[in-house]
Amino acid sequence: MFIELYHHKGHQCLMFCDTCVEHGEAVQANQFLIVDDDTGAIIDPGGNLAYSELYLGMTRHFPPHQLSAILASHADPDIIASLDRWMTATTAPVYISRVWERFVPHFCKPGKTAGRVIGIPDAGLRIRVGRGELWALPAHFLHAEGNFQFYDPISRILFSGDLGASMGRQVDPRQPVTSLSAHIAAMEGFHRRYMVSNKVLRLWARMVRTLDIAMIVPQHGAPMAGAAVREFIEWVQDLSCGIDLLGDAHYSVPTAAD
Ligand SMILES: [Fe+2]
Ligand SMILES: [Fe+2]
Repeated sequence: MFIELYHHKGHQCLMFCDTCVEHGEAVQANQFLIVDDDTGAIIDPGGNLAYSELYLGMTRHFPPHQLSAILASHADPDIIASLDRWMTATTAPVYISRVWERFVPHFCKPGKTAGRVIGIPDAGLRIRVGRGELWALPAHFLHAEGNFQFYDPISRILFSGDLGASMGRQVDPRQPVTSLSAHIAAMEGFHRRYMVSNKVLRLWARMVRTLDIAMIVPQHGAPMAGAAVREFIEWVQDLSCGIDLLGDAHYSVPTAAD
């Protein structure tokens, strides 16, 4: 089932979070459906594990041909591996970084994506969805080379992709976190390994401080709301991660055998 993150005057933001929890091998992932009256968009539709429930959820709100956009923060399997099925079941284009524009057709049967991949330029884009827009904000190297987050100015939700992700048994994606301190343990290891450098975290923090953000909702784990929004931005801008932490010892020829 889904969680309603926002619902006002025909504009809804829905989160699907349990489509692959029961499959222990696969990391928990959230998918999002933005509904604006009789149309909408999906954000980070996920892999094949997530497809059926998200598709059913969408058809409860509008017919498949009225889906106006499939938005992908980057090209990882948990983001967009179901693309072939979405290309078959709808007529919507997929928006993804220009960096990945010619790579995503590999998820699909030949010809399936012809004329339907819209490359988002590095500087980002305001994408019309129904009466409103979703803003593709640059989030490059957080964590993929070409990476966008999607900000909804109506709900004031920032869909942050892998940034802000939380993992572990103690994390409940249905329960927004409003104070960060107890939540850091569920985020720290992931951010130190998957985010590329402190420099890009600081650039990102400077950009998002200009936005009015009610909620930061990552693609894994729990949404952050209330004081946790500001606390997350402050925490992450001071975090050392990725290449900040690497040295000679990390690039040695291995001696371990399988
Ligand atoms: Fe990713
Ligand atoms: Fe992810």
